[in-house]
Amino acid sequence: MIEKDFILKSYASDIKGGKVKWESPSNIALVKYWGKKEHQIPENPSISFTLSDCKTITEVTYTKKEGNDFSFDVFFEGEKNEAFKPKIQTFFERIESYVPFLRDYHFNINTSNTFPHSSGIASSASGMSAIALCLMSIEQKLTDTVIQSESEESQGYFNQKASFLARLGSGSACRSIEGELVVWGNNESTESSDLYGVKYKGEVHQNFKNYQDTILLVDKGEKQVSSTVGHKLMFGHPFAKERFAQAHDNLATLTSILASGDLNEFVKIVESEALTLHAMMMTSMPYFILMKPNTLEIINKIWAFREKTNSNVCFTLDAGANVHVLYPESEKETILEFIKNELVSYCQNGHYICDQIGKGANQIGF
Ligand code: DP6
Repeated sequence: MIEKDFILKSYASDIKGGKVKWESPSNIALVKYWGKKEHQIPENPSISFTLSDCKTITEVTYTKKEGNDFSFDVFFEGEKNEAFKPKIQTFFERIESYVPFLRDYHFNINTSNTFPHSSGIASSASGMSAIALCLMSIEQKLTDTVIQSESEESQGYFNQKASFLARLGSGSACRSIEGELVVWGNNESTESSDLYGVKYKGEVHQNFKNYQDTILLVDKGEKQVSSTVGHKLMFGHPFAKERFAQAHDNLATLTSILASGDLNEFVKIVESEALTLHAMMMTSMPYFILMKPNTLEIINKIWAFREKTNSNVCFTLDAGANVHVLYPESEKETILEFIKNELVSYCQNGHYICDQIGKGANQIGF
């Protein structure tokens, strides 16, 4: 698929309006996306676990209107929200040539998250993918194709285009449409595209079944540096070339680890990726640090616990201070005990969220 395959050419213009609703999950990258080219094309491939319970639920009501401007209102948890509008305006501008009906309707976008507001959990992946999916359902109605009864081929197109649109909203959002593992970005080890996320089709060992992710909320405040700014700082970054090459290598290694189920090796790649991501931030110009003292306390506790117990628990980080604690389902009881006894005190107000690997987005009320 190339960009022009996603341009919607003709659609019914006599539909007055309707309502669509989707829930879409967050995801956590194992090999990180950090650095992008124009049009949200990643500098390196990434792979993520789709989460199960951390989701955005979005309902879009569309009503035919006059005039040629974009027209939409955003409601967050029932309240009109002006702060989200500029991001959605930019999103609409980026995607309008692929979904030209955007100018024909007024949209009421009602959205909420299952995770607490201002938890420091990035909601752009779940949020942008949920809107993209709603737009795809509208496109489907306007083009009169019903996915459920359709071939795998058209389901494939629906997911691909939803991911393609989501990417233009926020890069990592393209990995939230499906589960349980999704790859984004051209590479030689696995089927993929720069334009959209692709469900990982390689062999995955039983050890990764229901893999757990407990998110420790270390800092719920606004980040000092947004991901978008962080990505830009990879331009002219002294280690960029090596980092992008390393991501290819790590993805290749990870594909064999996923097949063999070697958790020892899994831990090494995942933690190294997390620390490399933050190392890139610390060596950008200007440099910045998103980890907090408690992030490091938690990392050291995890290492000590692993040393002592031979557990396979490990951590990863996204662009913030919160820690994702990853572990196999078989260790659930002991690790939750460890988290309660030793890690919760480093979380802001003792807050953490238990999640696990999930299967992707769902349409509601179809
Ligand atoms: C550190 O997808 O939030 O979470 O494309 O500018 O919206 P934009 O950035 P975003 O970047 C997230 C990067 C990351 C790593 C990852 O998810 O792969």
